[in-house]
Amino acid sequence: MVAYTTPSSIQLPERVEFPVSWAGHIPFAFWIVENLRPKKIVELGTHSGNSFCAFSQAVDRLELDTALHAVDHWAGDEHAGAYDTAVYDDLKRYMKNRYRDRPHLHRTSFDDATREFDDGSIDLLHIDGLHTYDAVKHDFEIWRQKLTANAVVLFHDTAVTNRDFGVGRYFEELAKEHLAFNFSHSHGLGVLALSENLPEPVLALLRGQADMNGLLPRSVFSRLGNAITDHFYAEAFCKVEERDPFHMGPDAPSLSEMLRMLQHNAGERITLYTGFNSPKVNTSDVSDDLPLKILASGFFSPDHYAKLAGLSTDDALALCRHYLDEGEEAGLSPSAEFDPVFYAQEYPDVVTSGSGLLEHYLFHGRHEGRVPMSAEGVIQEITPPETTKSDVFAKEE
Ligand SMILES: C[S@@+](CC[C@H](N)C(=O)[O-])C[C@H]1O[C@@H](n2cnc3c(N)ncnc32)[C@H](O)[C@@H]1O
Repeated sequence: MVAYTTPSSIQLPERVEFPVSWAGHIPFAFWIVENLRPKKIVELGTHSGNSFCAFSQAVDRLELDTALHAVDHWAGDEHAGAYDTAVYDDLKRYMKNRYRDRPHLHRTSFDDATREFDDGSIDLLHIDGLHTYDAVKHDFEIWRQKLTANAVVLFHDTAVTNRDFGVGRYFEELAKEHLAFNFSHSHGLGVLALSENLPEPVLALLRGQADMNGLLPRSVFSRLGNAITDHFYAEAFCKVEERDPFHMGPDAPSLSEMLRMLQHNAGERITLYTGFNSPKVNTSDVSDDLPLKILASGFFSPDHYAKLAGLSTDDALALCRHYLDEGEEAGLSPSAEFDPVFYAQEYPDVVTSGSGLLEHYLFHGRHEGRVPMSAEGVIQEITPPETTKSDVFAKEE
């Protein structure tokens, strides 16, 4: 039985540090450790440790005897930027206090570290060093012989195409010859399998199959992951009064950059909440009792709609029918969680399909990763009335 939402994947990370570009993959890191049960994990490129701490937390919570190794010279590179030794010292201290140094930190180059590992010994390799095409190809090729026959390899930054990033291009080449799956959120994470001799849930994910709840891997892990980066940025906002709340240093994102990240992720986050909170709807037979199914979905609020439409009745079914007959076309929202005007503008293919907008979202759109309202709308929903966006920018200036 395959499930993408598991006690492991939905747990919260114990440590998230700046920079957070990887942090959106933490739920997947928890999940892959739970389902692959690797004997040895090696990471090439650790920086402040978001990815490596996620692997370490999963191993610890699952009480596995997995060996954990992080390789980095902890000096930075032309993509990550240069940073000082405090980054390594902080991570080292954390590993000592939290895990009694069980995960090993190898402070050396990727090439030199190969000497410390036996051939055919690594089941899970995470490559996240320099992101040029040549560098990532080199890293994979020199570590290739260290992998077991059934190893899984993760490549970060497959979705970044600016500057001279080439991970996505190299991953596409590998994916022609291997079973592979690519996440696009949080800068992209490619998952590559050397063989198909893998546990059933891992195979299902690599094939992009829905799990026992009908949920697709891309949709589950992007929403769980974005919630983690949202949380990080939201906490930073709450502490805007303090100087340098996360010890982010001079290269930290500005408040306006953080707000943009929050906006970017918020639309997907609301889909996560609403998607999981609403009762499961049988999508196979939607036509006969559509108003009833829409009422049951939690996306129709009779109070909200009656107020907008200026109707006095408290007959929820009649209100829902009114919405379907004329309200949606008039641009009235059925609840605070769905904006038909946004949905029609964002997804013109739905308009031309002839399907109702909310009907489409409930039975198709949310499973395809479409969002029910603009990020601006979500921000308005979640921003306390006394704090407006201009206040936030004003504080920054
Ligand atoms: C993008 S960061 C890693 C991010 C990290 N995985 C996370 O979760 O935030 C890349 C790291 O790779 C390291 N690095 C790049 N090339 C390297 C090499 N050839 N040998 C050792 N470390 C290297 C850099 O020092 C940098 O810390």
